[in-house]
Amino acid sequence: MTLQPAPSSLLPDQVSPSREFGDKSTSLGPGNSKPGKMALIRPRQRRKLFTFLLATLVVGLALYLFLHFKQDFQDYLSSRMGGRPGQDSLIKIPELILLSILAYLGVRALSTIIFDFVFRVRRGYEAPTLVRNIFSLVAFTVLFVLIFNRIYSEVNLGALFTTSAIFGVIIGLALQDTLGNFFSGISLHADRPFQVGDVIVVGQQKHTGVVEGITWRAIKIRTFQNHIVLVSNSNAAREAIEVAPRNNLNARLVFFGTLYSDSPAKTIHVVREAVRDADNVSQRITPIVRIRNLGEFSIEWEIKYWLEDYAKYNDTDALVRQRVWYALRRSGLTFAFPTRTIHVERKPVTKASGAAEGITDRLAAVDVFAPLSTEEIQQLADAAIGHVFAPGETLIHAGDEGSSMFVVHNGRVQVQVNEDGGVRPVAVLTEGDFFGEMGLFTGEPRTADVVALDETEVLEILHEAMRRLFETNPSLAESISWTIAERRAALDASSQQAVQVSIEESAGLLASIKRFFGLR
Ligand code: CMP
Repeated sequence: MTLQPAPSSLLPDQVSPSREFGDKSTSLGPGNSKPGKMALIRPRQRRKLFTFLLATLVVGLALYLFLHFKQDFQDYLSSRMGGRPGQDSLIKIPELILLSILAYLGVRALSTIIFDFVFRVRRGYEAPTLVRNIFSLVAFTVLFVLIFNRIYSEVNLGALFTTSAIFGVIIGLALQDTLGNFFSGISLHADRPFQVGDVIVVGQQKHTGVVEGITWRAIKIRTFQNHIVLVSNSNAAREAIEVAPRNNLNARLVFFGTLYSDSPAKTIHVVREAVRDADNVSQRITPIVRIRNLGEFSIEWEIKYWLEDYAKYNDTDALVRQRVWYALRRSGLTFAFPTRTIHVERKPVTKASGAAEGITDRLAAVDVFAPLSTEEIQQLADAAIGHVFAPGETLIHAGDEGSSMFVVHNGRVQVQVNEDGGVRPVAVLTEGDFFGEMGLFTGEPRTADVVALDETEVLEILHEAMRRLFETNPSLAESISWTIAERRAALDASSQQAVQVSIEESAGLLASIKRFFGLR
């Protein structure tokens, strides 16, 4: 073997490429083709030579004995058959068989000399099996016809073949596929797109492996999982075949990513030096390291490198990746992995007010919340959502649906109603005042417009937060119902009228608030 096994440190879980399987293809390189080297020294070939010589000797001896005692055989047969027709033909059969065997052995010897010695020495690679087979078939057929004509000179072989034309057609149809493969095989050899030992990718299933041979029927490749795949010649002739010739510098691409903060120039230098050193990476061409894309979370790189032995590309790719990892680490560069930077925007209330404490104090100062405990105020503050409005912006539109109330945190708002084509101000609310409670607690549409007079920050309290408080503070609903009743009265009264709230009105409101919130 000229090829060393891949270092075990590369990828222990990977099966090594077929160049290392110790099969026929390993012995076919130019390095093994020196005359005399392959030789007769190999035990297997020595055995074959011995068998060949023994067979030739035995058959030659048998033929000699047959010819020597031919007359005796003839006499013996005449005495047994009494001169019946066919007697002459019968005596010639052993001669035909023995001569045919000798012819076969001669063809084998000739084939070995031509293809194992002359062809291999001249061309530097092994002759394709198909060519050898065709040579053997043609040579043997010619010899057989010559022998047959010599022994049975009275038989007309030409006539024999022409009369069997119909039989030939039947055989031809039956052998359609086989013949298709055969001729595709011949055309593959004529084109010589690849040879034994090349790595090819073939067929729709993208079978990848090292070519081990081309037979009458199929291309035989050994995959990198050490499986044998046979792709029929006719299929291969129809498909695109990607060839990585073994005596060619074939390139591979390996990808990796670095952080955007890492210097591209430094990365190129570091990676190139690390890769060019790796086993099986060709020293003849410097590897190329280049940016292939500016990705979502990393600079995406590709390394293009050339291999001395392409059949080991799995191991070499793995080694290259390994080298890149170590090189990046030594140089303080960072291998990128999928990351996403998330910028979280916090609720404006906590940002605007600066501290949650400010909100808690604000809510604690609201008179209707006076019955609440410190923890309940804190819960309310946690649930509050802050909004900022510009002067003149409308916070609430009369008639809208509303499911929350507001506390003025900073600034001022004006409650106003549209009357007789004009606007009637009802109240101005400042820090610590609340509004929107009517819609929230009764479920009725908003009763008035609320407009910011200054830049105003409000704290919004949703239905759910209030409902929890009502459950633990029945007096809260009561005090709110009073406020609502007062405000309703102020809304209904003209600016000159004094506001009066009856106990019945407030009690009625309380009942409807309780109903609306599902309280008992
Ligand atoms: P609501 O009806 O939900 O929406 C408009 C808000 O204006 C209303 O709730 C009250 O909070 C507020 N409002 C209505 N009338 C008055 C008033 N007389 N004084 C103070 N605020 C009021």
